[in-house]
Amino acid sequence: MILVTGGAGFIGANFVLNWLAQSNEAVINLDVLSYAGNLENLASLAGDERHRFVQGDIGDFTLVTSLLTEHHPRAIINFAAESHVDRSIHGPEDFIRTNIVGTFRLLEAVRTYWPNLLGEPKGNFRFLHVSTDEVYGSLAKEEPAFTEAHRYEPNSPYSASKAASDHLVRAYHHTYGLPVLTTNCSNNYGPYHFPEKLIPLMIVNALAGKPLPVYGDGQQIRDWLYVKDHCSAICRVLEAGTVGEVYNIGGWNEMPNIDIVHAVCALLDEFCTRIDGESYREQISYVADRPGHDRRYAMDASKIERELNWKPAETFETGLRKTVQWYLDNQNWVAHVQSGAYREWVKTNYERRTA
Ligand code: NAD
Ligand code: TYD
Repeated sequence: MILVTGGAGFIGANFVLNWLAQSNEAVINLDVLSYAGNLENLASLAGDERHRFVQGDIGDFTLVTSLLTEHHPRAIINFAAESHVDRSIHGPEDFIRTNIVGTFRLLEAVRTYWPNLLGEPKGNFRFLHVSTDEVYGSLAKEEPAFTEAHRYEPNSPYSASKAASDHLVRAYHHTYGLPVLTTNCSNNYGPYHFPEKLIPLMIVNALAGKPLPVYGDGQQIRDWLYVKDHCSAICRVLEAGTVGEVYNIGGWNEMPNIDIVHAVCALLDEFCTRIDGESYREQISYVADRPGHDRRYAMDASKIERELNWKPAETFETGLRKTVQWYLDNQNWVAHVQSGAYREWVKTNYERRTA
């Protein structure tokens, strides 16, 4: 079996669902169920004995050690993190606690467990750390995309905390020989994406008749990858990646934020015309920029393509169409995640951003 951390969040839940759709290898899913963790994401696995959910913290050394010694997973895939840049600006402490200290404690538990394994279980064991392109910092328009050799220049408390966790993972390989793999991926989108992030926020606000808040001039560029393609890349790295190596994952799909918002509006105009017949674009509202906002991320994913023969299956057009359709088909899920705590966050982040 494998141990997945953060498997009730956006990417982790997609990973667990995809994994069990393709394999009978069981999953232990360790998730603390922060505001971003949601067991509804895993509802289709109810009664499935291949999935065991454990509510707990990656920073709980005793709990992680007991899971390792009881279940002997052949791999750990570490998704658990605080993941939202804007939240890291309002309150960095949770990011330090989970992304840095939590990853450290998780690595410590592996460091006490793995050396005592023998033979194949020891040789085949992998610790796969899921990270982000944001650790590389911000690119000017003409600069080439990030390769794995790009130096680390994190600019937000989120990216700094992820960078620190990447360094710890690297150090545990270099110093203690832990069989680690690190993946750095660009912006994901798709089903079960919490509507604090750009694409799902635009979909749910548009449908609710609310403003679509675009930060600054909307010309910041991100590279977007459909979440299931990220999951397939992680599976491929787990299967064939070289221990100690880093793999960049991306969609070769750089787009300015405003174009993303226009694309979402165009699909909603097609699927779900506004009562007044106007476009959802009418709801776009330019608001104050994010402090320290990174201008451009771009991923060079040629290493994983060349060495592991991985390529994304979806284009942005097909992936976004599926995503918008998913949100239209899953309005109950959307209603449930918009709890009191969510509404508080919307107030905190948007109330003082004047148009
Ligand atoms: P998410 O915020 O949707 O989910 C994070 C999950 O981790 C939640 O289920 C949460 O409950 C859980 N969690 C948080 N703290 C925990 C702790 N201390 N112990 C156990 N579980 C804990 O995040 P996501 O978007 O699914 O991102 C998953 C991973 O992928 C993160 O490491 C993130 O940095 C990385 N990543 C995300 C993106 C993206 O576009 N979303 C892109 C590249 C990399
Ligand atoms: P986000 O989805 O938060 O991901 P990240 O900051 O990790 O890239 O934001 C994606 C881009 O969209 C980023 O440049 C910030 C911008 N953005 C807005 O313009 N308005 C919003 O309300 C949000 C949440 C993000």
